[in-house]
Amino acid sequence: MSHSTSTGPLGPGDHVVVLTGAGISADSGLATFRGGGGLWEGHRVEDVATPEAWARDPATVWRFYQLRRAALLEVEPNAGHRALFELESAASERGVGFTLITQNVDDLHQRAGSTVIPMHGQLQRLRCETCGHFQDGLEYLDTETFLPCSQCGDPSLRPDIVWFGEMPYDLDAIEVAMSSVTHFLASGTSGAVYPASGLLSAARSVGAQTFVNALDAPENLGHKDVFLEGSASQVLPQWVASCLRG
Ligand code: OAD
Repeated sequence: MSHSTSTGPLGPGDHVVVLTGAGISADSGLATFRGGGGLWEGHRVEDVATPEAWARDPATVWRFYQLRRAALLEVEPNAGHRALFELESAASERGVGFTLITQNVDDLHQRAGSTVIPMHGQLQRLRCETCGHFQDGLEYLDTETFLPCSQCGDPSLRPDIVWFGEMPYDLDAIEVAMSSVTHFLASGTSGAVYPASGLLSAARSVGAQTFVNALDAPENLGHKDVFLEGSASQVLPQWVASCLRG
């Protein structure tokens, strides 16, 4: 490939936008969605990640997400998450814009220190379907019993996850960020789920340098993108170093 694998060094006026997916958390021990025969922890994604599944069989969906919530207590951010926080910190010192968007519902970016737009929701948060109240925390992990809302008392809390057919969060903020992006990186995402998958082409269309990190070339990889093949925990520290030192 003839394109430079380096961005930098970054300077004032640059705006780095990073989109992460399940692959960045794989090195922390969390399963990706489309690996291992297309099943997510033994389920078809559609069977546990749709409003229809929740309406049809809430007990199964609740149990599934309670187990995913419990799993967060067993994992830690890895060098990939930490590298993106290092880039965010350095960017603010240099007058460089930085926006981190994640499709992940784990909280590993937040625990690494990053400010992040979790466009597909967050496992550590529950949302009341009766009154709209958001309830944060991982203290309640019972897989059999629904939790009453601390605001209205109804047992109507659901995982605050954007399921298939639902609108992702913060699309306005994402659009604003994409309007001024100069350097775009997608890391650990198969590029299979819209609208996140469209950000790479949106970045190309405004003339940004585009970088893609994954184990295998994702569906939406284009010939102008620099493909950084390999695990996020190894590739991202090097990519961040190249952003900062050139
Ligand atoms: P996928 O499971 O579809 O794709 C994971 C990607 O990460 C693949 O491209 C792998 O090559 C790559 N990968 C795996 N291990 C990696 C590693 N150690 N380092 C770097 N890359 C690695 O996950 P997503 O694209 O995140 O939506 O899935 C998108 C959405 O589909 C999810 O947010 C979820 C799901 O339905 C909702 O829950 C709404």
